[in-house]
Amino acid sequence: MNTIPLAARPEPGPTIYEKAGGPETFFKLAAHFYDAVAHDAVLRPHYPADLSDNAWWLALFLIQYCGGPDDYSRQKGHPRLRMRHAPFKIGVAERDAWVNNMRRAVEAHVENEEVKAYLLDYFERTATFLINVKED
Ligand code: HEM
Repeated sequence: MNTIPLAARPEPGPTIYEKAGGPETFFKLAAHFYDAVAHDAVLRPHYPADLSDNAWWLALFLIQYCGGPDDYSRQKGHPRLRMRHAPFKIGVAERDAWVNNMRRAVEAHVENEEVKAYLLDYFERTATFLINVKED
């Protein structure tokens, strides 16, 4: 039961999705990132031959994560990122390559400083959480 009277509830304020400028920003980000993956010696071997769907799903996922429409989950179900990445061997080199390519995409397409910091922090933490091979 929610006991806060409606009138006292703070305005929710714009989402990160809105502050980022809506869907276009995320589609540009994902397209830029996958163009880089296509030429990345560390990441390319992990991905399927045809990369054309990947940017689409990454964009829908990020839109949802940042508070926009939930088309990703409506079409794919719960993201379960760790489970979906289990088939790929992700070590520190893959994590770093992923984050560095994504950082360049963020710097190219995201103007709002708060959104930039939010995304970079999310990518650092999540890519680290996706590491699934032990290295000495
Ligand atoms: C912040 C980190 C990451 C996020 C948010 C992320 C997110 C995603 C998403 C949303 C998908 C699409 C899944 C789907 O089809 O529904 C995906 C696919 C994929 N990711 Fe990641 N990922 C991250 C890091 C990595 C890393 C470090 C690797 C290293 C190899 C990786 C490899 C892959 C591959 C190979 C696919 C393609 C799967 C396929 O099409 O068969 N990801 N990722």
